[in-house]
Amino acid sequence: MAETTYPKRYTITAALPYANGPVHIGHLAGVYIPADIYARYLRSRGRDVKFVCGSDEHGVPITIRAKKEGITPQQAVDKYHELIKNSFADFNISFDIYSRTSSKTHAEVASGFFKKLYEEGKFIEQTTQQYYDEKAQQFLADRYIVGTCPKCGNENAYGDQCESCGTSLNATDLINPKSTLSGEPPVMRETKHWYLPLNEYEAWLREWIVEGHKSDWKTNVYGQCKSWIDQGLQPRAVTRDLDWGVPVPVEGAEGKVLYVWFDAPIGYISATKDLTPDWETYWKDKDSKLVHFIGKDNIVFHCIIFPAMLKAHGDYVLPDNVPANEFLNLEGDKISTSRNWAVWLHEYMQDLPGKADVLRYVLCANAPETKDNDFTWKDYQARNNNELLAIFGNFINRAVVLTHKYYNGAVPQRGELTDFDQEVLQQLAGFPEKIAASLEQYRFKEALGELMNLARLGNKYLADTEPWKLIKTDASRVETIMNIALQISASLTILSEPFLPQTAQKLANMLQYTPGKWDVAGSVDLLPAGHTIGEAALLFEKIEDAVIDAQVQKLLDTKKANELANAVAAPAKENISFEDFSKIDIRIGTILEAEKVAKTKKLLKLKVDTGIDQRTIVSGIAEYFTPEEIIGQQVSVLVNLAPREIKGIESQGMLLMAENADGSLAFMQPSKPIVNGGGVS
Ligand code: 2FM
Ligand code: ZN
Repeated sequence: MAETTYPKRYTITAALPYANGPVHIGHLAGVYIPADIYARYLRSRGRDVKFVCGSDEHGVPITIRAKKEGITPQQAVDKYHELIKNSFADFNISFDIYSRTSSKTHAEVASGFFKKLYEEGKFIEQTTQQYYDEKAQQFLADRYIVGTCPKCGNENAYGDQCESCGTSLNATDLINPKSTLSGEPPVMRETKHWYLPLNEYEAWLREWIVEGHKSDWKTNVYGQCKSWIDQGLQPRAVTRDLDWGVPVPVEGAEGKVLYVWFDAPIGYISATKDLTPDWETYWKDKDSKLVHFIGKDNIVFHCIIFPAMLKAHGDYVLPDNVPANEFLNLEGDKISTSRNWAVWLHEYMQDLPGKADVLRYVLCANAPETKDNDFTWKDYQARNNNELLAIFGNFINRAVVLTHKYYNGAVPQRGELTDFDQEVLQQLAGFPEKIAASLEQYRFKEALGELMNLARLGNKYLADTEPWKLIKTDASRVETIMNIALQISASLTILSEPFLPQTAQKLANMLQYTPGKWDVAGSVDLLPAGHTIGEAALLFEKIEDAVIDAQVQKLLDTKKANELANAVAAPAKENISFEDFSKIDIRIGTILEAEKVAKTKKLLKLKVDTGIDQRTIVSGIAEYFTPEEIIGQQVSVLVNLAPREIKGIESQGMLLMAENADGSLAFMQPSKPIVNGGGVS
């Protein structure tokens, strides 16, 4: 068989998240978990890897967030950079560096990149009419302007991109543009900018992607790229009129900064430069394999614009692959920061401490690799209880506990092998190569499935051979069985590490085993006979319904809060005269007694002291108040409403209630005690 040749080194990048908010499960599932699995796997194979990331700290997403929070852009990026960095650490994302685009190195590298292209005449300099907000006295770049996408009709497309269909736009492409600063339609004003003539790279991009990467890029990535190239590429402005970003390093560009999507991908290079003095080898040597992990909304920037920039520059390697994922939804609804519809990683860590690997597992098992997928808490619970705990955890626990019980923790000898033993050992030997083959092709879900198949193999081997029964009749056979079970356990330690790093560490401690490299030759002699393993410890624990119910309730509360926030008040009724109004007699009264009206869900029978008298009122508030909690409360009472009979009781007036959009009720109460009978006017 021909030997596979691998690149000398790998430069792996994960999309730089905007430092404008915390990160959520969608970020992990789409980008950081697959990237981390890939980087860890390659390291385990002994390959030379640099895995780089950092915060994207420029552009309109940052200035908008800062304004919303009433803080400076610098304060905003400092706050979110820290939060994001900690979340990645909590989930053991093994970046070799987590940098930030506000770093000094980045300003130098991004400036230098622009300058080289500028000096070599690679840009078009153009003065054109751009949208300007007269009220805010500002040009409207990117997210400062929204309008209807000419491609898909999404009414909230940004000035540089429609997030609905992924198309990259120029602000002037938008239909019915509107400033997000003032809400007003913008005016046109002249300004000078520098454009990268993407049209000049079209033929090259076609050859490189459409001809060159048809078979090795994911279908979703390839398809998007081909369709953009087929539609024809236009020059794209790479500078902006903004006061937050890397200043454009040429004369006559005062007050202008680099477009965030020009500087952000260069952030991968500057992060590598901050990581190692040898950074150029990782970016310039043709034996370096560059892989970008991103979400689908970033495809155009990483497959068309950044490669065109790299090509124009000339010194750098091009991405070998861009394994972009689709989106993860949450409980059937699109994850949304503005609607707070997300599972935030820092909150997950607080609510479910010690369960980083469980989320890593669920998000990989359910990864949106080829289509959008849904995360549900029920699925999370089922995957933990029925897969991690029942298969992986159960197998390891049996293997370790029985080894202690029968051999005081010493690995027994492997004696004569049955056909079944041989078959199991053969299968065991095949797993490293099988899982590696999936990972080399960015099929993370498939790889994880195979890892679980190895745990299943172990579970089935013990269930079929039943060493706990044989120990009484054939002790030497049990030695062989337990030896094989322990070899499977050791192999799981190595092979699970990229997916479940904390679990692999626990397993290594339990087996007192220092895992070797990932060897596709598939050794079945990982733990020598006589080696003493450590004490059994639980790898996973059962997740009870109450834990899941609390998370589901949190989301229901969010949904309710959103409904209330978005509720539109009913239009005002027709005007009435003051005379009509003065016919209404409203008094402050105190509830003296309250009881449920039999055989009804909604009604309470109240006795109210109105100051005029003590009267009976039947009120439809039982779904929102218990009788006990309202006795003694002051309320507003319409006292001259004609009495009427409700469920056989004469109701002599009406309590005035305020009603929420969801139908929930609150009393109209005086803000300080008022004597009963006090009038309301
Ligand atoms: O979509 C985003 O969150 C961007 N901040 C990703 C940037 S990736 C890279 F180019 F830096
Ligand atoms: Zn669109």
